[in-house]
Amino acid sequence: MIQIENSGTRRLEPIWPEVDQLVYDHGVKARTNHLYSVVKDVVTPMEWPIFAPLIDAINQLKAMRNATILAHNYMTPEIFNCVGDITGDSLKLAQVAAEAKEDVIVQAGVHFMAETAKILSPNKTVLIPDMDAGCSLASSITGADVQTIKAAYPDCPIVTYVNTSAEVKAYSDICCTSSNAVQVVEAIAEQWNTDTVIVIPDQYLAKNVAAQTDIKILTWKGECEVHEQFTPEDIEDLRDAHPDAVIITHPECPPEVMAAADFAGSTSAMAQYVRDKAPEKAILITECSMSDNVAVENPGVEFIKPCNLCPHMKRISLTNIYEALRDVKYEISVDPVIADKARASLQAMLNLPKVDNPFHFDTGKNLASAPYVAI
Ligand code: 13P
Ligand code: SF4
Repeated sequence: MIQIENSGTRRLEPIWPEVDQLVYDHGVKARTNHLYSVVKDVVTPMEWPIFAPLIDAINQLKAMRNATILAHNYMTPEIFNCVGDITGDSLKLAQVAAEAKEDVIVQAGVHFMAETAKILSPNKTVLIPDMDAGCSLASSITGADVQTIKAAYPDCPIVTYVNTSAEVKAYSDICCTSSNAVQVVEAIAEQWNTDTVIVIPDQYLAKNVAAQTDIKILTWKGECEVHEQFTPEDIEDLRDAHPDAVIITHPECPPEVMAAADFAGSTSAMAQYVRDKAPEKAILITECSMSDNVAVENPGVEFIKPCNLCPHMKRISLTNIYEALRDVKYEISVDPVIADKARASLQAMLNLPKVDNPFHFDTGKNLASAPYVAI
């Protein structure tokens, strides 16, 4: 096999061609039929001949590169089910990244997830198929903002959502995800012997955490552009139209939306709820691909999909995952000094006792205030 150095990327030629030269032939069909049977309810027979050659090539390239693909719950079903090696919410993907055995980690998710993987596994090659796969929460706050908050509130620990840059994590005391935010807030308050904790940058997650704990919470004016769009009126309309459906929300939604729902938790908690309760009809108030992926696992449940698309998650496709593995691009790097400090915040979170089930928010008591930090 010839290995060619090509403008900073390593290309293996001539075996791995351009995407439009990959064909759906008998070999590909035979090697991927079992995967189509998994996604047949959410991927049409017309789409499959386009996806299958990419899936087949990606799965072969993964073995060649000794790579693993970490796929977030918001990936489209052909990525999530057919090439993802480890799937889950932000917490699970961070835990797995810290322990990965493979040489290469491909993040099928957004930039902060890939950066988290690199911080936790600094000696691995971490790739993201599209460097512009960002996040409205991550871009709502900078490391300089956190330094200013720290100077203004030296006695308050700063809990930072993982949906942030390495620099923001570096100036924080501990990270959290939607699976463990309440646990993290209560643990750090006890360690610092304080009744006030700063939870940044998601103001809605902060308010939803404030409703579940006696700790006083201060926050930042950030929002997830997917979840902030849902309103209590949307939930009312859905209830009227589907009185027999359970309504499940994510804690990045505004508190009024949480209060109107039946269940709330991280993407993994949402999936687990459907698995455990097997409702006849479910409505997931979150990103669109989530329902498709939960539907694959729960064929008996009917899903109503009043979802919103995350434009950042949707930048990741089979095509750019294939190109990422073929060309070993785009490689994540983090300044080592920042990485060491950010790792301490992530590790403080990962060191907390592991819980068997992701936290679920009590939707009955979901209206609390969390004033913005005044800086
Ligand atoms: P979780 O998967 O941790 O619930 O986070 C959802 C999300 O918006 C990730 O970007
Ligand atoms: Fe960020 Fe929201 Fe997209 Fe998640 S869904 S990546 S929080 S914008």
